[in-house]
Amino acid sequence: MNVLILGSGGREHAIAWKINQSNLLKKLYIAPGNAGTAEVGTNLNIQPTNFSEIRQAVIQYKISLVIVGPEDPLVKGIHDYFLADEILKDVKVIGPQKLAAQLEGSKEFAKKFMVKHNIPTAKYESFTVESLEEGYEFLETLKAPYVLKADGLAAGKGVLILSDLQKAKDELKEMLSNQKFGNASSKVVIEEFLDGIELSCFVLTDGTNYVNLPHAKDYKRIGEGDTGLNTGGMGAISPVPFASKEFLDKVEKQVIIPTINGLKKDKIPYKGFIFFGLIMVNNEPKVIEYNCRMGDPETEVVIPRIKSDLLELFIATGENKLNTKKIEFTSESAATVMLVSGGYPEAYEKGKEIKGISAVENSIIFQAGTTFNNDKVVTNGGRVLAVTSYGENFKEALNKSYQNIEKIHFDKLNFRKDIGFDL
Ligand code: AMP
Ligand code: GLY
Repeated sequence: MNVLILGSGGREHAIAWKINQSNLLKKLYIAPGNAGTAEVGTNLNIQPTNFSEIRQAVIQYKISLVIVGPEDPLVKGIHDYFLADEILKDVKVIGPQKLAAQLEGSKEFAKKFMVKHNIPTAKYESFTVESLEEGYEFLETLKAPYVLKADGLAAGKGVLILSDLQKAKDELKEMLSNQKFGNASSKVVIEEFLDGIELSCFVLTDGTNYVNLPHAKDYKRIGEGDTGLNTGGMGAISPVPFASKEFLDKVEKQVIIPTINGLKKDKIPYKGFIFFGLIMVNNEPKVIEYNCRMGDPETEVVIPRIKSDLLELFIATGENKLNTKKIEFTSESAATVMLVSGGYPEAYEKGKEIKGISAVENSIIFQAGTTFNNDKVVTNGGRVLAVTSYGENFKEALNKSYQNIEKIHFDKLNFRKDIGFDL
């Protein structure tokens, strides 16, 4: 079959790399893709939220399955758009419809869902500009640090963690009265701070059945020792040593199964990935967030550990037959280190020539912010390349990545040298 992947990051390159290995694949397209996805498929110059151009491409290239990488088109309803279209309605879309995408698109929706289905999460309340005073009062009942979350999508920047009560009140006002995050902060969720270690679990579901994917931990801060600004993610490892079988069983019983059953009970259809952002507090899992897509850079370690044919699993998802499939993954560890443009996550330059990719051995390069300038591969974003390796354990995998990074050059290249430091 012909397959289209929407997106342009390392996540989409990793998915494209894996799908390209399937015997079930005829032709692979990526929109818009990057210089790396061009090696495993055909890039189409279409943005993932341009539904009408995607429609044209799906018809023109006889595509029968679409994998949606990022959240934006899902929250905007791309799956619903396909279902409502006479020609597209039978095309399988991997990624939930608009309603279920609210699990990521609205923090309040997600919290209500968790409370309703008894899924462990931080205590919370939500406020609007009309209830600002109540918001201040709620903050006074909490202990520092204070967690404020813009309800809507805010490009990963909508969560503030503040140690000072007055500062928290000021920020709440900024978010609600002054629209600090635009419309995304017209509602704000205030929640109890959870102190623990984070990890991410993933499932692929057809809405009734699911398969567990490998879990992972990502490193979001730009600076070593988890300091500095938040980024999209500077590296990831899978599996994480502290996630014991006993803990993962708890995640399955307390979080994953109640989520799938909750979706069913609430009649919320869901076909696609669910990303559970978890925090382990006293050996108990709590959900920090849901995402309706895979993580990036988690995908760059999760996908390489899957041995099964991912396209076969996607087809089964589309046909509500995931119960007939098993997923196998390697017991080897995988680690990835992101090479980023100097200055990221603030201002950075683009268009720097990338050298040395072909010298890399025993690692996989998943490209993110890259493009072609004539026949040269140049930087085109903040996160540029993910260098993924396998190993007996995450340290061995990381060593391989770090050795290969020595061979790669571009002007102002930056990366974290301490991925996994806390484990
Ligand atoms: P989110 O966008 O909800 O994933 O939040 C971004 C980051 O803020 C998370 O990855 C956590 O590191 C942190 N965070 C969010 N909620 C909490 C919480 N209730 N307690 C502690 N840290 C949190
Ligand atoms: N790496 C975190 C995310 O994709 O949201």
